[in-house]
This record gives sequence, C-alpha cells and structure tokens, in this order.
Amino acid sequence: MEKLIQDLEIISTDKQDNCEVRVSREEAVAKDKKLYIESYGCQMNFSDSEIVSSILAKEGYSTTSNAELADVIFLNTCSIREKAELTVRNRLGQLNAIKKTNPGMVIGVLGCMAERLKTQLLEEEKIVDLVAGPDAYRDLPNLVQQVEGGTRAVNTLLSREETYGDISPVRLNSNGVTAFISIMRGCDNVCSFCVVPFTRGRERSRDPESIVREATQLYENGFREVTLLGQNVDSYKWSKVENNKAKLNKIKDAEVVNFANLLEMVAKVHPNLRVRFSTSHPKDITDQVLHTIKNYDNICNYIHLPVQSGNSRILDMMNRTYDREWYLDRVKAIREIIGDDCGISSDMIAGFCSETEEEHRDTLTLMDLVQYDFSYMFYYSERPGTMAERRFEDDIPLEIKKKRLNEIIEKQRQHSLERNKLDLGKVQKILIEGTSKRSDDHLQGRNSANKVVIIPKGNLEKGMYVNVRIEDCTAATLMGREVEL
Ligand code: SAH
Ligand code: SF4
Ligand code: F3S
Repeated sequence: MEKLIQDLEIISTDKQDNCEVRVSREEAVAKDKKLYIESYGCQMNFSDSEIVSSILAKEGYSTTSNAELADVIFLNTCSIREKAELTVRNRLGQLNAIKKTNPGMVIGVLGCMAERLKTQLLEEEKIVDLVAGPDAYRDLPNLVQQVEGGTRAVNTLLSREETYGDISPVRLNSNGVTAFISIMRGCDNVCSFCVVPFTRGRERSRDPESIVREATQLYENGFREVTLLGQNVDSYKWSKVENNKAKLNKIKDAEVVNFANLLEMVAKVHPNLRVRFSTSHPKDITDQVLHTIKNYDNICNYIHLPVQSGNSRILDMMNRTYDREWYLDRVKAIREIIGDDCGISSDMIAGFCSETEEEHRDTLTLMDLVQYDFSYMFYYSERPGTMAERRFEDDIPLEIKKKRLNEIIEKQRQHSLERNKLDLGKVQKILIEGTSKRSDDHLQGRNSANKVVIIPKGNLEKGMYVNVRIEDCTAATLMGREVEL
C-alpha cells in the first residue's frame, strides 16, 4: 500500500494543535494517564495508531512523546520482512530499561507482528504484557485493565466487519495539512510472498458516508490533502443493501459504490482538498478510475502501481495475477488518459525464489519502459506460512539478492533524476506542508505527482497553494520559486 516506510519510527506527540482529541479536557486531566505509541511499517499502521489513540483517549489517555512518562507503551508493529520484526524485537529489548524505572507500566505489542505471533510473543518476550491484532483495538481498554489486574492479555481475533468507520482518529505527529483516511481493511489477494492476508484478514470496505464525513471534518479543520488508504484500493466495494462480498457480487452495479465513485465523492468535498490514494493493484485499476482522476483537478496525478517483477514467470509464481504485458498496458492507459506528467511509482522485489539473471534483467528493462518517478525496492525475505514459503525454495543467495537490488536501486536513481529534469522550467501548483527539513528559510510542499518541492519562504505558510516555477532538481527533490500567474 502504500508508501511503505520501512522501519521508520514515528512517535506520537503531545502537541494539541491540529489534534482532534475527543475526550473533554477535564476527563483527560482527571484521569491523567499517558499513552506512548510507536508505529512501524506501512501507512495503514500509522493510520491505525491514530484510531488506537482515539479509543484510549475516551478512557482518559493523552499521548506523550516521552516513553518514560507513559502508563501504557504500544508498539504498532510490521511483519512484512524479517528485518521489520527484528527492529521491533530490538526495541522491546531497549524498553526493558524504561520498564525497570516504572514496573507498573503496561507494554503492548499491536499490529501485524501481534497477529502473526499471537501468544508466542508472550512466551518469547517476557517484557510484553499485552498482544492485540489489527481488528481487536476496540478491546484495548479492557485488555489494559486485565493487565492492570495482574494478568497478561491477548486478543488476536480477526473480523469480517470491523472497519473502525465510526471512530474519529486522533491525528498524531500531524503537519495539520495532510492526513490519511483508511477506506478498507485486509486483503483478499494471495500474493505468494506476502504475509498481509494472514495479519490483516479478509478484505472489507468502509461505509463511504463515514469516509466523506471524515474528509469534510479534516477540511473544516484546515487540512488540505487526504490520502485514501487500502492494500488494494481498486477493489473497494460498498453497498447500502448489504456490505457482504458474496452478496455484493449479485447486486446491480448501480447500487454499488466502487473506488472510482468513492474518489469522486471525496473529490467533491471541496475543490481545495487534494485527494491521493494508495495502493493500486495492476490487475484491478480500471479506466473508470483513470478518467475520474483526469476529470477532477483536485485528484492528484500520481499512482502507486507496484509491479514487484518485470518477468511474467516470476509474476506467475508470485501469484500477482497479471503478466508483464498486462502491466505495461495499464501504464499505457495511464499515459493516454491522464498524461505523461502523471507520477507513477512502484514496489520491486529482487531475488524472488528461482529468479534467473535474465529474469532479473526483465525487471530492469520494464523499468526502462515505464520510467518510474520513484520506487520502494526490497530483496526477497521469506515469511513463515506464506504460499512461497510452503511451495518454493528461497534459493537465491543473499549476495546475489543484494547485487540485483543495487542494480534496481541505481536504475531507479537515474530514472528519478531524468523524470525530475522533465519538470525544469514548468510551473506547478504546490501544496505547502511545512518548513524544509534542511533550511528554516525554505518551505517544502508537493506537486500533484507527489514530488517534494522546496521554495524560499517569503510570506508563504503551510496549507497554502502556490504556483512555483521549477528551477533545479536532484533525483529526490525539485527546487523552485513562486510565480504570479
Ligand atoms: N498491497 C500492496 C503491498 C503491500 S506490502 C500491493 O499489493 O502492492 C508493500 C511491499 O512490500 C510490497 O509491494 C512488496 O514489494 C514488499 N514485500 C511484501 N512482502 C515481501 C517479502 N516477503 N519480501 C520482500 N518484500 C516484500
Ligand atoms: Fe500482499 Fe498482495 Fe495483498 Fe498487496 S495485494 S497486501 S502484496 S497479498
Ligand atoms: Fe503494513 Fe507491515 Fe502489516 S506493511 S499491513 S504493517 S505487515
């Protein structure tokens, strides 16, 4: 989905500005309990941490950025690759020291690792008091109480209905301009390398009314961009009649809200609210979605369309259900319907089971054909319980995996630079997100294609739209200056 922010740590903040804290201040102060939450993995997990914070806010917890002050520490974890799990194990080791200074503190593991390992986590990590899977967050107040009462607590039940649709997330670590909205949960695909269907359960879509309501509230609170999140947004499907996938297939199209319809509904919230989405699946992205993007100025011209491999035999083994030609045809449709300046990014896996040198080169030639603006690139990491683990041998030596990955990364760096150079001299509409990370005299924002643009500060402020002429670039960033139109 999505921008996989591997192993990146985001820590919730105390900042009350732009946060929608849904408990009354009196209640929060009266109970005066502190939650510290760290998120790992994809945007979905970061979004879930905001739901968790909202659920605990109702119990009188406010968030803190200082783990030592916390009554409850949650790690919202990722299982996508072995390294992601190792990072969490190391972090749990570090928390030992903090727990020694405050033995009453509750330490919980949430998210995908919790779901994958269940009670095994309690056996292996003595410091952990609580384990809760992605569909069990409403039970957290009860689980915390159990721990306070002296027993370790676990809930890893997956649900076919839970979407947390009625919960207004507490916006953590927010810039006050951009926000995530989860539109669905789970995944019904079975890509052979992927652990997500096991950790997140069956796919289910959230009521579109609640999505539009959340987008409207965000706009009213000053936000100017929302990213609609799902593992496979193109299979979003919702009907008032019955939100049950088996029955949905029998209901007439006119009665069903599909992803293109939902995009349109959110785009209509306000022309000044930008809409992004992630992740699109090459087998499911429709021309209707592409036309909807074209028809609304505020739906950004950017599609994250992970290919994983450029070779059809490997794609078949990965069970991605499309081949190289199908993928290239979808890219052609994007270029024809939206245009050449539509940003396209990808995820790529190097060294999947039995991949030959020639098949690896197919990934490189596909990259040459598509010219991605950006990619998230990984080498294959075998995950327990997946179809690939059961059926194929993880037979590519680590050095070869790393060598292939480096070739992919180097090619992407060249393409990112080439694509960025095409923007030189153009005037683009930028949404300012805040101060540049490198300089207080500069602001940073994004163009429609999701590229970071740095501009001199002048009298501009975050949340503003500004027309910028692009004057310079690196492979990662565009630099420009405001122009009057
Ligand atoms: N739903 C998204 C992907 C979510 S996981 C999609 O279908 O595109 C994000 C990315 O992690 C995947 O696209 C894939 O490139 C990578 N990934 C998943 N499992 C992996 C594994 N076992 N080893 C290496 N990379 C993996
Ligand atoms: Fe994993 Fe495939 Fe689902 Fe993406 S679509 S989450 S890669 S199973
Ligand atoms: Fe996301 Fe990692 Fe889970 S990528 S869905 S947090 S396994």
